[in-house]
Amino acid sequence: SLTVKSLYERIQHANHDSISIAGWIKSIRLLKRIAFLDLQDGTSVNPLRIVVPLANTDDAQFLKNLKTGQTLSISNATWQNTPNRKQPFELQVKKPIESIKLIGPVSENYPLQKKYQSLRFLRSLPTLKYRTAYLSAILRLRSFIELQFMLYFQKNHFTKVSPPILTSNDCEGAGELFQVSTNMSSTASSYFGKPTYLTVSTQLHLEILALSLSRCWTLSPCFRAERSDTPRHLSEFWMLEVEMCFVDSIAELTSFVETTIKHVINACMNNQEELLPKQFVSSQEGDSSSDISINQEIQQIKTRWKDLTNEKWQKITYTQAIEILNKCHNEVSHFKYEPKWGQPLQTEHEKFLAGEYFKSPVFVTDYPRVCKAFYMKQNSTPDDTVACFDLLVPGMGEIIGGSLREDNYDKLCREMEERGMNKSGELDWYISLRKEGSAPHGGFGLGFERFISYLFGNHNIRDAIPFHRTSAGSID
Ligand code: 4AD
Ligand code: MG
Repeated sequence: SLTVKSLYERIQHANHDSISIAGWIKSIRLLKRIAFLDLQDGTSVNPLRIVVPLANTDDAQFLKNLKTGQTLSISNATWQNTPNRKQPFELQVKKPIESIKLIGPVSENYPLQKKYQSLRFLRSLPTLKYRTAYLSAILRLRSFIELQFMLYFQKNHFTKVSPPILTSNDCEGAGELFQVSTNMSSTASSYFGKPTYLTVSTQLHLEILALSLSRCWTLSPCFRAERSDTPRHLSEFWMLEVEMCFVDSIAELTSFVETTIKHVINACMNNQEELLPKQFVSSQEGDSSSDISINQEIQQIKTRWKDLTNEKWQKITYTQAIEILNKCHNEVSHFKYEPKWGQPLQTEHEKFLAGEYFKSPVFVTDYPRVCKAFYMKQNSTPDDTVACFDLLVPGMGEIIGGSLREDNYDKLCREMEERGMNKSGELDWYISLRKEGSAPHGGFGLGFERFISYLFGNHNIRDAIPFHRTSAGSID
């Protein structure tokens, strides 16, 4: 059967056959002798214009009864090229009563209407919100980007792997684990009495696989029991993780990240007609907090993609970041948290560096050892830093965290001891890897929702995952 997208793809060689199509009414405009229906089936960013000449009062009454949101199946439509109009073609339906079938009704107070509706309001309609042009475009962008990563990694000799979600380790050591079971009860539903958690990051398992495949990646759900009810935190999110052997500098890793992300954004640019609507229907389905029109917003997205691929991304060390922040504290900006060497960067610091100071993505490298996880490779410099980086972007802050991994058995053991970690416990397999054909390796994790939101210019990652789980929300 035909989809709206397949019709758009046929524009060049349109035929005038009798066309059948199904979809939902996005808007309907009734004039005296003609009606305009905008139909959408979700396959395309732009709706399909259906023109219905009204031959008599029965036709007019029939059209008058149709409502926004209803599902229609249409047959016997004919193709009209309309090169001088906003849309390149339209379908005409001459005998509406025979050709248009209502297959899904809506209630009197169907909430999605052709008028301005804020994202805050749309988020209160979890079962309906993705019917809007704005929010469905995010899901299509997400799907497109997944495919682009897949193609890129395949071409660069990476193997896609599927690491476990149930695990006994706390990779990041931050104690933000959701517990599936403890050893208190040995019922099957509490995972047979073995202490088990939902993974916070699949990295440690990827390290095993990298030591056999050299280059591997995954896009997996990750879970964090953080009480952070912010626009950039989810309890369940997806992380794209990459692990590579035979890398021995952070410069190599950051350069790989920059090339990979730019490649994906380039693919978005080359397909922007398919990814971004000409307009978000005719209603402004944007955020009421911004007073720019939604069509300007689409232009801004395109400009951002272009700038991101053209500019060279910035790179500074953590120590330089602290110097910049200290210089600007109270002069240019007033931070709630004073920037201090040895303390993690706060969201406000990250947003300032990328958004206000550099106005571009910025890699911050070589954080103090105490700020980061146990597995990071220690620098040979005397400043007690580790070979790591975070990628910060304007408006969002950190979207990627990565590092070289400590591959020296003794150093890793010493670090774990210092942190009071149990070496012969659930991580003994991880440490022992350093004794069996070890290799210098490193990798990174990209927060997928943060990335999608950033590219779409939407600052709330709850819109980049269909059903968000947060510390504040209820679970359906
Ligand atoms: O910086 P993080 O904690 O790094 C790791 O987990 C490493 N083990 C990754 C690796 O090297 N393989 O998390 C990586 C990214 C963050 O930069 C952020 O974008 C995202 O995951 N992230 C979250 N996204 C949404 N909600 C949360 N609660 C997130 N926590 C982290
Ligand atoms: Mg991090």
